[in-house]
Amino acid sequence: MSKIVTSFSEYQDAYKQSVENPEQFWSAIAEEFTWRRKWDKTLEWDFNKPEVKWFQGGKLNITENCLDRHLPERANQTAIIWEPNDPNDATVKLTYQELFDKVCQFANVLKNNGAKKGDRICIYMPMVPELAIAVLACARIGAVHSVVFAGFSSSSLAGRINDASCNIVLTSDGGFRGGKTIGLKSIVDEALEQCPSVEKSIVLQRTGEEVSMKEGRDVWWHDELAKASNNCPAEEMDAEDLLFILYTSGSTGKPKGMVHTCGGYMVYTNYTFRTAFQYKEQEIYWCTADVGWITGHSYIVYGPLSTGATTLMFEGVPSYPDMGRFWHVVEKHKVNIFYTAPTAIRALEKADLSFVNKYDLSSLRVLGTVGEPINEEAWHWYDEHIGKGNCPIIDTWWQTETGGFMISPIADVTKTKPAFATLPLPGIQPAVMDADGKELDGNGLEGRLCVKFPWPSMARTIYGDHERFKNTYFSTFPGKYFTGDGCKRDEDGYYRITGRVDDVIIVSGHNLGTAEIENAIDEHENVCETAVVGYPHDIKGSSIYAYVTCYHDPENDDTLRKEILDLVSRTIGPIAKPEKIQFVSGLPKTRSGKIMRRILRKIAEKDTSNLGDTSTLLDPGVVEDIMQGVL
Ligand code: WTA
Repeated sequence: MSKIVTSFSEYQDAYKQSVENPEQFWSAIAEEFTWRRKWDKTLEWDFNKPEVKWFQGGKLNITENCLDRHLPERANQTAIIWEPNDPNDATVKLTYQELFDKVCQFANVLKNNGAKKGDRICIYMPMVPELAIAVLACARIGAVHSVVFAGFSSSSLAGRINDASCNIVLTSDGGFRGGKTIGLKSIVDEALEQCPSVEKSIVLQRTGEEVSMKEGRDVWWHDELAKASNNCPAEEMDAEDLLFILYTSGSTGKPKGMVHTCGGYMVYTNYTFRTAFQYKEQEIYWCTADVGWITGHSYIVYGPLSTGATTLMFEGVPSYPDMGRFWHVVEKHKVNIFYTAPTAIRALEKADLSFVNKYDLSSLRVLGTVGEPINEEAWHWYDEHIGKGNCPIIDTWWQTETGGFMISPIADVTKTKPAFATLPLPGIQPAVMDADGKELDGNGLEGRLCVKFPWPSMARTIYGDHERFKNTYFSTFPGKYFTGDGCKRDEDGYYRITGRVDDVIIVSGHNLGTAEIENAIDEHENVCETAVVGYPHDIKGSSIYAYVTCYHDPENDDTLRKEILDLVSRTIGPIAKPEKIQFVSGLPKTRSGKIMRRILRKIAEKDTSNLGDTSTLLDPGVVEDIMQGVL
């Protein structure tokens, strides 16, 4: 493996080289991997089209890099440790050899069920080892995986399956999450009524609950395995062939299927995993995310496995059976690197410290956080009580679209600062823009965060809608990738991400588009119009506040609220349920009919002393009414 930076001066040198000669920089790193054929051209790009191609002409299979190439040296090393939902159930450990065999065998199951290179395969599964196996099996045969988080509703699932015309769905009878059992197969059944492209569904037994199996479409995972050999040569892929699609919510319209490709994604997730965490041989690494999110794709599966690391997968939730579960798992498996989200830290911080102090956390060496800005209080609690003042906290800023870490401290190399993502990793060239679209020079400033040069793991397009890709990311500031986030750059050149500047709300680390939630609520027969905004929440970071106008006064507000919540759960998923729903007589709109969310946000935050300019409102009276009724 190539040398990664291990001191601040090495970081500075690497950064300088990555900016002055990016092709040379990335090509030296890419050479460390197993390629069937070397690339002809390292980079070709044009942010106006936009078009980005890395390692063109290179041929590879990412699973040969995650599995085959490790076998000579680490066949017997643990690749995946699986910790089940119930702490009394047995842990599963898979060595690299076992994982390799299982991936190949399941790849044959896919083939036996008609899967071919280029097919889109939807994966809707709980956090069990078979989920990682399924992901890798798709990659092995060159099928494009589209993992949908198993907390989404049947209609969200159907939308994603149809958007990518998936022909196969991988699922399980059900899943355990804390004290609950979720019937995943029945959700899939409901979704598939609207999905004509799906020919096969392969169903894993997890909970043992009874499910209906549709003749000719549904087959059992274990029956299929029994018929499949574990010999499956990897499909040869072009560096720019699709590896996966992963949906993320935008400020408008339906979720966007972000497209990631094989070569650049592999190189970058591997490089950033090793660099930011300073992963050392034999270390136990645990990322608490779900594989249904980008964090799980890049930093549970691909980054760690391509490194030959031991990665822990956890099926459960931080609060089950009690608020000490995370720390119990750290002690039990002697976790060295622990990577979680601010929302989890804030929830655990509220619990009694005895839940932490009961356990031996001395194995921890590095802590990480991701998903939303971490507040200083949570940062200090994490540092003091979990890291005992000895573990660097790497606050990794990145996105589904970026594929890998963008701005982040490097453990023990970058001096950290509470609530700062600190400095760009090698290869990343941020730009802070003012409202007029001018790039701001120097330090001690604030603006909108863009990136002005391509990096290997950036999304290449939105599946089936390149125009939307261009409009969403490359049009606000022409020639630059716009992240949708605001940031500060302090006197030291350190970045602090201040949060979304568009209509995306991040609730407990999950991105939700206001338009999606509004559309769901508007489906209610008595709802005329809805405006949704985010407001600060102690634990979740942000919560959803919905202002709703009705055709006629509801007979009972609480009944209507409950109906709306059910509707949102069914349409998107429980994570999108508003915390507060206020029925109002009208919404504040400009003369051109645009809802002034800025005002609604202020009201939701109970910060009504300065509502700013309301003179452009069509009917300033509605604001007064809304304030009267605020919840
Ligand atoms: C936010 C998650 C502050 C940000 C990997 C971004 C963060 C969005 C951080 C992407 C961080 C992520 N500090 N904000 N360390 N990490 N965000 O696509 O607003 O689920 O645009 O990817 O989360 O969320 P996504």
